Amino acid sequence: MAATRNSIFDDPFYQPADKFFPANTKIGLTFDDITLATLYSEILPRDTHLETTLADGLHLHIPVISADMDTVTESRMAIAMALNGGLGLIHYNMSERQQLSEVSRVKNHVHGLIQEPIQIAPDQLIGDVLALIEQKKFGFSTFPVVDEKGKLVGLLSGHVVKPRYAAKKVSEALTPRQQVHTITKKELGRDPIARADKFFTEHIGIHKLLVVDDDDHLHGLITMSDVERITQERKAQFKPARDAHHHLVCGAAVSATRNAFGELDRQRILGHVGGLVERGVDVVAVSTAHGHTKGVGDMVRVLRDAFPKLPIIAGNVTSAAGVEFLADCGADAIKVGQGPGSICTTRIVAGVGIPQMTALYVCSRAAAKKKVSILADGGITKSGDIVKALTLSQAVICGGIFAGCNEAPGDVVEISGKLYKQYRGMGSLAAMRTGSAARYGHDKNPTQKVAAEGIEALKEACGSVDRVLAQLIGGIQSGMGYLGANNLEQLREKARYIRVSPAGMREAAPHDVVELKTGN
Ligand code: XMP
Repeated sequence: MAATRNSIFDDPFYQPADKFFPANTKIGLTFDDITLATLYSEILPRDTHLETTLADGLHLHIPVISADMDTVTESRMAIAMALNGGLGLIHYNMSERQQLSEVSRVKNHVHGLIQEPIQIAPDQLIGDVLALIEQKKFGFSTFPVVDEKGKLVGLLSGHVVKPRYAAKKVSEALTPRQQVHTITKKELGRDPIARADKFFTEHIGIHKLLVVDDDDHLHGLITMSDVERITQERKAQFKPARDAHHHLVCGAAVSATRNAFGELDRQRILGHVGGLVERGVDVVAVSTAHGHTKGVGDMVRVLRDAFPKLPIIAGNVTSAAGVEFLADCGADAIKVGQGPGSICTTRIVAGVGIPQMTALYVCSRAAAKKKVSILADGGITKSGDIVKALTLSQAVICGGIFAGCNEAPGDVVEISGKLYKQYRGMGSLAAMRTGSAARYGHDKNPTQKVAAEGIEALKEACGSVDRVLAQLIGGIQSGMGYLGANNLEQLREKARYIRVSPAGMREAAPHDVVELKTGN
């Protein structure tokens, strides 16, 4: 039994949050300034639970959110995040109409259903199809064939897409409509994968199932290989984050839009957020660089009055007063972070901001009193930072970590043989010009010179979000195992901290070796 008890010899060194941070009031601490002490554990990393609740009705299976930035989160990223159990916040550097359609894409996403399959017209030549495959580097050669109204005409099967038939028309080579296997969206029901799985078992040798509406318009395509992959994944530990109607969860950032007189444009804001709510958005984020302001408070109040049940995230703040203010205005979750982001220059430009662990501690104590949650936003570069952040928050928001993923907006560029994707701060001049200026208190087309608070950068391309999240989640679970924490609440209760010296920091990373392979 002695193994489970703390020792008096540890206590002066490894202190719980309420002792450690008040003992360090004269200095702002961030992730690398501290380390967590291990504790007696009976918990294996794989048995830890990562569920988190951010607001009434907003539950995630992993405490990770992708940032509302125009080089990080659009529908593709939000779908990938929700499928992994997390949440994506769709950015607002786009027209309101476009943001509504991005949210709809996430909410209507049917896992395994290719919603916009590449379609071929009947009067194209097989040679055209071969050229398209070559040009777009498609790894498949079977295509649905539709007429000009989008009605299904047939299926062009891979075994006829051959150079010897190049001069033939698609209409001569296709499998006609009557022989093509289809299913309606309605027939797919609540569990499309199980339904499609059953179909493929019953129809030996058929590998593609086309989804149509009652008028035979094509709505998608399900392939057997996708169904098999997804069925395998379902055995994975973390379930997709879904709403009560079984749709993937999705968040959207909203801007405190002002009218010509500089007042909040209530009508426009309510119209837009009303549209988001109609499309099923699960949470809106009032995202600004300075959340402890009248403007942000007014915006949160307007939304809270109009949509009493809608979860609202607001920020950013780094003080207890800021948390209390936004909570009183009606926010459910508060973003904490001013200047820690990898592309942020707020601290350099404005001389403002607080190192993240100190900010999280101060804010978390106010949040506990106000019964709101804390989102640790920015500055996370490795899974160990997430573990530290989660000792004081309910979830983390990451930008840079996901910006190099396939699912982030933007193309991959090659520079000196290496692949990169663009990543830029929402306070960079380029991003502000496309819409995010209000977030930093500036006009979109400023007449005066404005100081950018973010940079434009590149991130090395890093593959799929699934892969990146698997690494991060593995790290979080490992940290919880070291602290004997079965769930995130226990992690918050059990964490004990100690400061790290510069030599201790050097010791923490690989050193005095020639590194052959990174841990990733
Ligand atoms: P990471 O470190 O994950 O940070 O790349 C992402 C977070 O940074 C914030 N953000 C900015 N902060 N200037 C800033 O000071 C900017 O241009 C900027 N753009 C994003 C934001 O909170 C995001 O989630």
